[in-house]
Amino acid sequence: VYKDIFQKPLPFPPTKAPKYQYKNETTGAVVDYYEVEIKTFQQQVYPGLKPATLYGYDGISPGPTFRMERGREAVVRFINNGELATSVHLHGSYSRAPFDGWAEDTTNPGQYKDYYYPNSQSARTLWYHDHAVHHTAENAYFGLAGFYLLHDPAEDALNLPSGDYDLPLALNSKQYNKDGTLFSPASETVSLWGDVIHVNGQPWPYHKVEPRKYRLRFLDTAISRAFKLTFEDDAGKKIPVQVIASDAGLMTKPVQTDNLEISMAERWEVIIDFSAYSGKNITIKNARDVQADEDYNSTDKVMRFVVGTSVTNRDGNGDLPSTLRSVPFPPSKSGVDRTFKFERTNGEWRVNGVAFADVNNRVLAKPQRGAVEIWQLENSSGGWSHPVHIHLIDMQILTRTKGKRGVLNYEKEALKDVVLLGVNEVVTVIARYAPWDGVYMFHCHNLVHEDHDMMAAFNVSMLAD
Ligand code: C2O
Ligand code: CU
Repeated sequence: VYKDIFQKPLPFPPTKAPKYQYKNETTGAVVDYYEVEIKTFQQQVYPGLKPATLYGYDGISPGPTFRMERGREAVVRFINNGELATSVHLHGSYSRAPFDGWAEDTTNPGQYKDYYYPNSQSARTLWYHDHAVHHTAENAYFGLAGFYLLHDPAEDALNLPSGDYDLPLALNSKQYNKDGTLFSPASETVSLWGDVIHVNGQPWPYHKVEPRKYRLRFLDTAISRAFKLTFEDDAGKKIPVQVIASDAGLMTKPVQTDNLEISMAERWEVIIDFSAYSGKNITIKNARDVQADEDYNSTDKVMRFVVGTSVTNRDGNGDLPSTLRSVPFPPSKSGVDRTFKFERTNGEWRVNGVAFADVNNRVLAKPQRGAVEIWQLENSSGGWSHPVHIHLIDMQILTRTKGKRGVLNYEKEALKDVVLLGVNEVVTVIARYAPWDGVYMFHCHNLVHEDHDMMAAFNVSMLAD
C-alpha cells in the first residue's frame, strides 16, 4: 500500500532544448534539430522495496516537454537505446505519414529514426508516445510518453496564465508488484486499470500554488483508465472550473463545469481560480464507477494543490475572455458516410471485424483528400468503453446516443482527435480528411485493446472510394 498520499511534490519534466538549428534549403526557413534517447531507468516508488525499471525518453517519464512555436519546423531524432522496438507518434499533429509513428515502422534497439514535424497547426497540447505494433501498451505504460506544447501568437494574445501558472498534468494509473517493481501489461488482453494514480510520474503528488488563476493542461496517459475529475475544497465542496481547450487547442468559449471527464489520450485544459482558497487545499478527486473501469481503495484521489497566501505575479490573472477563438469546425452536412463498429469477437477486439494484423483487409476507408465525412462510431462490444483516436484529422462530435450521456457541454465547443465511446454509445463525428495523402491509423486508445488488435487504417488520396 502506498502511504505518502499528497506528501511528495509534483514533478515537472524539463523543457527540451534543440541541439542545433539549420536552414531548410528549399524554403530558407530555420529548422530546429533535437535528439532524444530512449533508455531504461529506475524509479524508487516504494521505500524499502526494489525500484521499478522504466523506459523513458531521455531516461525520464514523462519525457522532456517540447515547447514549440507555430511555423517553426522541427526534426527530432529518436535514438532507441531501450530494450524493445519503438515507433514514435506525435499525437495531435498532422504529420506526414512516414513520420506519424505507423505501428509497423519500428526502430530496433541500437537504431534511430529522424521524425519531421511541421508545427504548422494552431496552438494546442500534443503529446508524443510509443506506437510500436502489438506492444504499444507495454512501451507507453513503462514510460514512453511526453508533452509537446505548440504555441501561437493568437493564443498568446489572450494573456492566459502562463509560465509557472500553466501546468501540464499527465495522469496515469499503474499497478506494482509486491517487490516494488512495475507490473507488466504485456500479457493482458482486456484492460489494465491500475490502482496507483500518478501525475507526471509521481503517485498522488501535491503542488504549492498561489491564490490566483492557473491553466491546467490535463492529459490522460493511462493505458486503460478514464477519469471524472472534481476539484474539492477541504470541506469536500466542489468548485467549478472553466474548460478552455481540448485536443485541437482553444474552444470557442470557456465552459464552466464542476466535473471533467477525460479518457485515454484526451486533453482537456481548464482555468482554475485559487484566489478564494488562500492557506487552504484544493484536492483533485476522481469519481467512482467511471465508465466500465474498476475502482481500488485510492483511485478516487488524484493530487492536491496547497494554496499559499501571496501572489508574486498577476500576469494572466485577469478576467477570461468571453470568446477564445473562432474554431474551424468543418462545414455542416447530413447523413453518415461510413460506420465503424468497435467490437469484441471471441475475446478479441476488432473494428468492423478486422484486426490490425489482418494486413490485406485493414484499410477500411479511402476518403478523398479534402473531403468532409461523417463517421458513425459504434460501441458494439458489450460492457466496455473505447476512446477512439483518428490520426491526421481534427473532428467535431455531432451526436452521442444509446448510452447514458449525450455530447458533453464542453465537447460541443471543441475540436477533438479522440472521442470516448462509453458503454453502448454511438457517436457521430465530422472531419475534413486533409491536408495530406497517406495511410493513417485509427484505433481504440485503451492500449491493451489497441494491441489486441482494435486498430485499422484509412487511406487519404485523390481517388475517392
Ligand atoms: Cu495517441 Cu494512434 O495514438
Ligand atoms: Cu477499447
